[in-house]
Amino acid sequence: MVLSSSSPAAVIVLAAGAGTRMKSSLPKILHPMGGRSLVGHALDAAMSLNPEHLVAVVRHQRERVVEHLLGHNPNLVIADQDDVPGTGRAVEQGLEAIGAVNGTVVVTYGDVPLLTPETLNALVSEHQNAQNAVTVLSANVPDATGYGRIVRDEQGLVSGIVEHKDALKIAEETGDSTIADITEINSGIYAFDGEILARTLAEVTTNNVQGEKYLTDVLGLARAEGGRVATYVTNDLMEVEGVNDRTQLSALGSELNRRIADRWMRAGVTIVDPATTWIDVDVELAQDVTIKPNTQLHGATQIASGAVIGPDSTLQSVVVGEDATVRRTEATEAVIGIGANVGPFTYLRPGTVLGDTGKIGAFYETKNVQIGRGAKLSHLGYAGDAEIGENANIGCGNITANYDGVNKHRTVIGAEVRTGSNTVFTAPVEIGDGAYTAAGAVIRKDVPAGALAMNAMEQRTIEDWVLQRRPDSAAAKAARASNGKS
Ligand code: UD1
Ligand code: CA
Repeated sequence: MVLSSSSPAAVIVLAAGAGTRMKSSLPKILHPMGGRSLVGHALDAAMSLNPEHLVAVVRHQRERVVEHLLGHNPNLVIADQDDVPGTGRAVEQGLEAIGAVNGTVVVTYGDVPLLTPETLNALVSEHQNAQNAVTVLSANVPDATGYGRIVRDEQGLVSGIVEHKDALKIAEETGDSTIADITEINSGIYAFDGEILARTLAEVTTNNVQGEKYLTDVLGLARAEGGRVATYVTNDLMEVEGVNDRTQLSALGSELNRRIADRWMRAGVTIVDPATTWIDVDVELAQDVTIKPNTQLHGATQIASGAVIGPDSTLQSVVVGEDATVRRTEATEAVIGIGANVGPFTYLRPGTVLGDTGKIGAFYETKNVQIGRGAKLSHLGYAGDAEIGENANIGCGNITANYDGVNKHRTVIGAEVRTGSNTVFTAPVEIGDGAYTAAGAVIRKDVPAGALAMNAMEQRTIEDWVLQRRPDSAAAKAARASNGKS
């Protein structure tokens, strides 16, 4: 029977640690993974429980961390940890920030990014259904170094947690390594009865190897006053793994990405090479999307059904329509229409909107440009601060000269316009519907609908120039041979 749990009174996310091993000027928990900060992942998991109070305990690089936390969730309660070190002190000050609580209090870490709402919810359900004083999320690991050991009595009930360093000290002093050898470890994530937590925390001392106020001491104390202390065991070690250094940042980042890719493949997305495909958590992919190798999909990117993305493409918050193709492209905050075609070697900057069935081809850069349905910008050019009408055909090497050195100006090109190769539009300028421009035209004045604009000089041809000025050259030789033939 699955009983559903009720929302906890509070979730306290511990985020006061210094993160020294990251060797970074950026606070550890602000490092990104899968399009979110580490602590962003932790807050999202916590928020999924819909707690009455969501608390973050901070200390290290306080200002920067708090700004980030409130940016993620403005309703967050910030609790400052004082000079007393340890997870117990952190939780105590988290509780002080919200006053007396009745009900379940969940504790999680800001540096554990893969914990899912499902596991967190299962922990809370188990805790509430069993009416425990404390339920600790535990796991069996091959190497328990660094972790608190779950100690059980003869009946198998949890009697307490012994920290790694204290377990080693016991082994050294007694010659008995039973506790140090325990492989069931404390993940550091728990559900507590709020009242018992507050009461027992007040009794916790710093009398241990590390001189810290251990949260884990609460388990022994709760047990001693007759409370039920139990575990909820997870088999998914990655979910409870924390980030302490950049090796773990990368390992957990890869694992998160693998899980995201798996989820999309199960949902009907073809990912040719998941190992070289990076997909942020907030990306949305429709069924029958195909992603080719070396592709990164970031931010709020959304890809519609039938679209083919990659290879070698990076999309940041790009919306791609059905059946569109995007090859070898770097694009940011752009919209690509249904059946449109982008690439290869194309750079779409913010504000690019490509209409349905339109095309932006090789070696094009675009920015803040609305391109109508069926319009084609096939090769080599720049289109910025412009509007291009339906079915316009923009020739090779066209440039919108939008910047006069002080201000940016707009170019407006009508529907069904045909522009010659190497046309330069000196903005502000408007080209009417159905107008043409000649090759090499520099358009400084508006062109009315249906007109042809050109401003090239008459071509001047100097006969025999090569034969006279470069008589010994290969070109002259070829010219003489050609003249002899005719
Ligand atoms: C803690 C547990 C240990 C468990 C391990 C899992 C205690 C005493 N020990 O170990 O049983 O196996 O987590 O990773 O709880 N933090 C604060 N304030 C502090 C100290 C820590 O906010 O004063 C935060 C850290 O930022 C971090 C988390 O608490 O997010 C855990 O701290 P860390 O030092 O990594 O864990 P340990 O105490 O070694
Ligand atoms: Ca840790």
